[in-house]
Amino acid sequence: MGRGTAAIDAHVAFWATARRPIDQIVLLGAGFDARAARLAQAGRRFFEVDHPASQSEKRRRIARLTGYPVDAAKYVPCDFEKTDFLDELAMCGFDRSAPALVIWEGVVSYLSEPAIRATLRRIAAGCHPSTMLLFDHLLKPRAKDNFVDASERFFGSLGETVLFRTNDILPLLYEEGFRHVRATSFDEACLTLTGTYDRARQFRFQRLVLASRTPTEAP
Ligand SMILES: C[S@@+](CC[C@H](N)C(=O)[O-])C[C@H]1O[C@@H](n2cnc3c(N)ncnc32)[C@H](O)[C@@H]1O
Repeated sequence: MGRGTAAIDAHVAFWATARRPIDQIVLLGAGFDARAARLAQAGRRFFEVDHPASQSEKRRRIARLTGYPVDAAKYVPCDFEKTDFLDELAMCGFDRSAPALVIWEGVVSYLSEPAIRATLRRIAAGCHPSTMLLFDHLLKPRAKDNFVDASERFFGSLGETVLFRTNDILPLLYEEGFRHVRATSFDEACLTLTGTYDRARQFRFQRLVLASRTPTEAP
């Protein structure tokens, strides 16, 4: 499982056939995520919100890929540090009065806490109350913990700076308006999905978090 991708895909699949299906999927910081193409379904709309530089690079690349369904998503350029993503989304056809599944995978580590808070606040207060947010975040590194130290090695090798880590996301989510929060370690997600628990695998220094304002029937 790469960075919780399989666990997030399971949520997308669940909400396709749920009692009250969700037909708006928002990918915040979509990067080269290909969910809109992989999980396309009639009646479902995908929105890819991303930094303008990353998004234009993705669009340039997928335009050259034979058979890639470039129209599978609406593309919404936005810098979370500077711009209100929800206003941008609404201008691209997102229906704020309907529930959505908002996915924020592999992104919050690169953002300042004020930008994370502003985005959370807009999801909690500006979207339909049944909207759900699914995101991952890094834990703080701990001395003598090989699995957590792996995160520092990994980001160091990419030359990337980590701006945000936390061992307790609950206060932040509560303060920005969420009332139902479920955090799962990547070890737990791996066990559920694969039936195995292999400590040698990478990327076990994160948590996957499901947050909403109202109770959810999510799996
Ligand atoms: C590691 S990639 C994750 C991409 C994808 N979600 C995935 O899991 O494969 C980080 C993404 O965060 C986006 N990002 C980082 N800082 C951003 C910002 N200030 N505003 C908008 N997007 C940002 C980048 O453009 C990039 O697409």
